[in-house]
Amino acid sequence: MKIIINKKAKLDKLAAQEIINLVNENPKAVLGLATGSSPIGLYEELIKDHKANKTNYKKVTTFNLDEYIGIPIDHEQSYHTFMYETLFKHLNINLKNTNFPKQDDPASYTKLLEKKPVDLQILGIGSNGHIAFNEPGTSFDSTTQYVDLAESTIKDNSRFFDSIDDVPKRAVTMGLKDIMMAKKVILLAFGKNKAEAINTLVNGKKSEDCPATILQDHPNLTLYLDEDAASLLKK
Ligand code: F6R
Repeated sequence: MKIIINKKAKLDKLAAQEIINLVNENPKAVLGLATGSSPIGLYEELIKDHKANKTNYKKVTTFNLDEYIGIPIDHEQSYHTFMYETLFKHLNINLKNTNFPKQDDPASYTKLLEKKPVDLQILGIGSNGHIAFNEPGTSFDSTTQYVDLAESTIKDNSRFFDSIDDVPKRAVTMGLKDIMMAKKVILLAFGKNKAEAINTLVNGKKSEDCPATILQDHPNLTLYLDEDAASLLKK
């Protein structure tokens, strides 16, 4: 595991450069993408670069981590909408090559990922140690499946909705085993509320109580942390 601690703006640029280099080297690269607030700065950097340097996403394939159940995919808070508005509409990506776990057929997503392994997976982390929507207690052997969101996740995500009652309670998510298939993983964490989860990921015992600890076994993982997210790590 590699750890980079720096200012968020610098980390956004570094992480974006990893993607840009990969896409330039391999125009058919397969990217694993996350939603939420953590990757927004990185996506802004990709858009800036695409405008300035015409990095070509025409043949790139993407797999998103998760999608809510209980709201339509064209809902303003769906992850389909988030990705379209935040990234896809600003790049020359072919929307046919952008994939999300199917709300009516989770298992097919794992099959797709086996056929087209992710070259570079971008992850955020929940304050409770979840990755994608794999909440504490999820089996390390999990593949794409339906899940109930933890109370803490519903609370964390309520900032995007008018009221906490509007936050969907269920989701369909890539499983932990699926995420581990990615050839390279970049996990972004910013802010004090991530510090405990990051400390457990780095220094804790591998346990399904903190799903992110499965990443301790990943052969090519880099954590991109700001000072606050890294604040509980020993110097
Ligand atoms: C998003 C996802 C989640 C988020 C996590 C952190 O697709 O799978 O695991 O990465 O909840 O969210 P933010 O970045 O909003 O703090």
